[in-house]
Amino acid sequence: MKKNPKKSWWILVIVSVGVMVPFMIPYFTLDSDKSRVPLAPATHEYPILVSHIVFAFIALITGLLQFVERIRITNPKIHRIIGKIYVSSVFISGLLALAVIFYVENFTKSMAFLTLAILWLFTCWKGYRKAVKRHFNEHRVWMLRSVGLTLVAVSARLLVPVLLLLYYILNDFSLPGGRDQVFEVILNVNIWVGLVLNFIIVEWVILKKSKGKNKKP
Ligand code: HEM
Repeated sequence: MKKNPKKSWWILVIVSVGVMVPFMIPYFTLDSDKSRVPLAPATHEYPILVSHIVFAFIALITGLLQFVERIRITNPKIHRIIGKIYVSSVFISGLLALAVIFYVENFTKSMAFLTLAILWLFTCWKGYRKAVKRHFNEHRVWMLRSVGLTLVAVSARLLVPVLLLLYYILNDFSLPGGRDQVFEVILNVNIWVGLVLNFIIVEWVILKKSKGKNKKP
């Protein structure tokens, strides 16, 4: 059966927005009491976190828009404008994420965010430089990696119920320590699992695309 890239793109957009919006709504109220993550008192953590979320969301939307062929092929000017918004948003949000990491108490979680933030900034920078140098094949590969990392925010959240089930199975069908403790354990590892999963998917897509190109006469 032939895959429909337009349909896959729409599914990705709907799932990404559908997963992320409920997590973002409490922060759009600008009421720090509604923060889902515990905030360090008398610090700038809340405004930094909210700004990170706003720019990350812009990066998510613009990143996905870059895969619309109609814009990319027939309207390269729009593609460049959206691309510049994506790169700026990743840089702003990624640097703000680096600042938020200082407030994350769990070391496993903060190392996952640190790895993700560095890779996010690095891949986006490489993608941008390749476009400036007009190395468009490499530009596409690095931008695929960059958007794959943007989507870790989505996959890490989607993985929570899967990890919960695995935890339950691996602990002889029980939740030792109770539900709250189990959730805490899962929220300390889901970013790592999302990172590895998205890395594998993106590298597989890149490999498949390059194989397809090599096959063409
Ligand atoms: C890919 C690189 C990203 C990094 C390194 C990153 C980093 C972080 C960090 C360190 C936190 C604070 C977590 C805590 O205190 O427990 C956070 C929270 C958050 N981020 Fe990001 N983030 C990234 C991408 C995104 C994207 C693309 C979105 C949305 C489109 C997003 C939305 C959020 C939201 C909604 C929160 C609040 C957490 C919650 O209430 O569950 N992030 N992020």
